[in-house]
Amino acid sequence: ALKDNTVIVVLGASGDLAKKKTYPALFGLYRMGFLPRDVHIVGYARTKMDDAEYHKRITSYIKIADDDEDGKAKLEEFKKFTFYISGGYEDGPSFENLNRFIEGIESKYQSKERNRLFYLALPPSVFIPVAQHLKEQCYSKDGKNRIIVEKPFGKDLESCRELLSSLKQHWSEDETFRIDHYLGKEMVKNILVLRFANVAFGAAWDKNSISNVQITFKEPFGTEGRGGYFDEFGIIRDILQNHLLQVLSVLTMERPVSFSAEDIRDEKVKVLRAIPPIERNDTLLGQYVAANGKPGYLDDDTVPPNSVCPTYAATTLWIHNPRWEGVPFILKAGKALNEAKVEVRIQFKDVTQGIFKDISRNELVIRIQPSEAVYLKINAKTPGLNTRAIPTEMDLTYKRRFTEIKIPEAYEALILDALRGDHSNFVRDDELDVAWKIFTPILHWIDGKNGPAPKPVPYPYGSRGPKELDSFINKYGYKRTVAEYTWPIMNVS
Ligand code: BG6
Repeated sequence: ALKDNTVIVVLGASGDLAKKKTYPALFGLYRMGFLPRDVHIVGYARTKMDDAEYHKRITSYIKIADDDEDGKAKLEEFKKFTFYISGGYEDGPSFENLNRFIEGIESKYQSKERNRLFYLALPPSVFIPVAQHLKEQCYSKDGKNRIIVEKPFGKDLESCRELLSSLKQHWSEDETFRIDHYLGKEMVKNILVLRFANVAFGAAWDKNSISNVQITFKEPFGTEGRGGYFDEFGIIRDILQNHLLQVLSVLTMERPVSFSAEDIRDEKVKVLRAIPPIERNDTLLGQYVAANGKPGYLDDDTVPPNSVCPTYAATTLWIHNPRWEGVPFILKAGKALNEAKVEVRIQFKDVTQGIFKDISRNELVIRIQPSEAVYLKINAKTPGLNTRAIPTEMDLTYKRRFTEIKIPEAYEALILDALRGDHSNFVRDDELDVAWKIFTPILHWIDGKNGPAPKPVPYPYGSRGPKELDSFINKYGYKRTVAEYTWPIMNVS
């Protein structure tokens, strides 16, 4: 682990990601006492600004209640070891300057050990020159060096391979931490425990019991302002190929020999390799249009007119191994929908009929956000002088069950893992390679690379998504719960 004598360098310190995620997470870790003793944080970006302006920026997303005196004091302390230095991303002298600045900090350390953690909150266009300069000009010779990189890791299989091999010229796999922040979310980490620490779940975790699985991401806002970036990537690269596929791999992998990073990632890669590329007819694409006073995707000034970029996608994946053969895994994600929700929904098969008719299927739902929960839809006897079965649920809602616990932010968990040198929740190079293999053919089709690009179907801003969604899901055997369960309220007076 990087304990004492550590400098954390945030590159792209004036950008959105740093402001919204990286710095709040660093502060959160500091507040909880998880940053190394004597840590220093150096922000680096092209924008010229003084420390005061920099502090204002990086604290703009850190929320501290008015009466939280401890929080305010901690924030003042945090600012004292947080500095800024500006420079270019592609020239050696700027990085020499950065290195001198870091050395200035390190010269005050008691021992000779000097550890450096570089966090690249940068657009992909400068990943490679920055990684190279950091290695050439800013690499510590007396301690550990680590580099954290963020998606996008390329746009398809070929560009991903190019990016990986360029980064590898300078940084070893062991030093590299590729973030997929969904792997830092509490309920995603929980999947391994739910599956492998419970005989009751583990025993039903296969094609014999499970009919279909949906992994769903819904956001209630559009691309607002990020249209330029988004249009180049689309919802599949933004959400499905990384976040949802990662969830799928932990949900379906075999039991790892241990919780070590390589054992876990070996199993993830193995299951991903059993998934063939997605077929066009297993795909539903949508794009939101103006509704209820909200603008459509094409109304965004940063989006090219007539863009056919999907802002909604549902794709069905199949796993060809003995556990999962024939079970459809539907990954679906959309912007500008009716709610914010991310969940895994496992629908079990029909119970043997005969004594029951029209009875609901069991569903195990893992709600990743908001309000973390695991609940199992079950059938029970209608209470009272009645023998009919009704659907109800066993509900583990975290807020109710674990009242004293604050669930950490994904970025807090991941930065701490990187400081500790634990790769379990970071994406290994071969995982990325196989993830791109699954998605590259449909992405090229959508990009219009080998023929006319498909036109996404329109859906209104704020709706559930394309109206074709229900029949798309039904096609894979999903059955809606027969009757919505309501608690029978008696007239007791
Ligand atoms: C990012 C995507 O990776 O994840 C964004 O680029 C998306 O488009 C975000 O909004 C969602 O993350 P979270 O943690 O808010 O679910």
